[in-house]
Amino acid sequence: MKKVIVVLVSVIAAFSLVYAGSFQYIGVSKCKMCHKGEKKGLVFEKWEKSTHAKAIETLKAKGEDKNPKCLECHVTGFNAGGYKVGDATAATLEGVQCESCHGPGSEYKTISVMKDKKLAMEKGLIEPNEALCKKCHNEKSPTFKGFNFKEYSAKIDHKYLK
Ligand code: HEC
Ligand code: HEC
Ligand code: HEC
Ligand code: HEC
Repeated sequence: MKKVIVVLVSVIAAFSLVYAGSFQYIGVSKCKMCHKGEKKGLVFEKWEKSTHAKAIETLKAKGEDKNPKCLECHVTGFNAGGYKVGDATAATLEGVQCESCHGPGSEYKTISVMKDKKLAMEKGLIEPNEALCKKCHNEKSPTFKGFNFKEYSAKIDHKYLK
């Protein structure tokens, strides 16, 4: 009996290791808890004012907020295990949120992990670069008017560390 339990426990442990590799989208309200206010560089507040935050409203105004061809770039984690039309969690992933650029946060969101950048990156945190922006800022966008990384980065800047 003892042996069976030991085997079961190791099987469960092995499974949880496998699942730790599949990072889940958790939505901006979770990031907001720790990334709002003056002391934290007003990161949430800056994002909230950006057009990224309002990208779903833009589609709603056009009656296109159920069109997968538009949602692809106007919500968080579409076709990547995030936003799904009709899903219970969809409302929490509307617009281009933090996790669109920084990666799904289920595993890196805890304070001890977040404070250790290397560990956070092992747990899904992404350092956004030009290639990442261009996944959405490209000719497939019906309103594309070019993309200059330096200029566009300055418009969404929310750096405060160091
Ligand atoms: C429990 C609090 C907490 C939560 C929740 C949290 N963070 Fe953090 N985050 C921190 C702390 C603490 C740091 C270290 C920097 C600092 O002290 O401000 C940090 C750093 C970061 C960094 C900078 C990493 C670096 O060193 O360059 C990014 C990017 C980031 N967080 C994104 C997110 C995103 C996206 C979410 C939501 C999915 C999130 N965080 C949720 C506390 C948190
Ligand atoms: C998941 C898709 C996606 C990613 C990734 C993305 N963006 Fe965007 N971005 C959008 C959408 C959609 C809009 C338009 C939002 C609206 O007006 O509804 C936008 C708008 C903007 C705007 C405002 C443009 C204007 O004329 O008002 C800037 C600046 C911008 N993005 C910068 C960036 C930068 C820099 C990166 C990479 C670090 C990036 N974006 C990554 C989808 C994305
Ligand atoms: C490949 C990604 C992508 C797709 C697909 C996409 N968009 Fe966008 N959308 C963007 C980006 C990025 C912006 C910001 C402006 C720009 O640089 O194109 C934007 C901006 C917009 C704007 C604001 C335009 C402005 O100049 O103020 C509207 C409206 C819009 N999109 C509607 C749609 C609709 C409707 C669809 C589906 C038919 C769609 N988008 C599909 C990425 C995309
Ligand atoms: C459109 C993409 C995009 C979105 C959306 C976005 N960020 Fe960022 N974030 C970036 C980029 C680009 C940097 C700068 C990376 C660098 O230069 O090291 C950055 C840097 C950061 C940093 C580090 C600041 C520093 O001083 O180095 C934190 C913390 C952070 N983001 C948190 C967030 C949180 C929380 C949200 C949502 C409320 C968010 N970001 C939304 C692209 C984005």
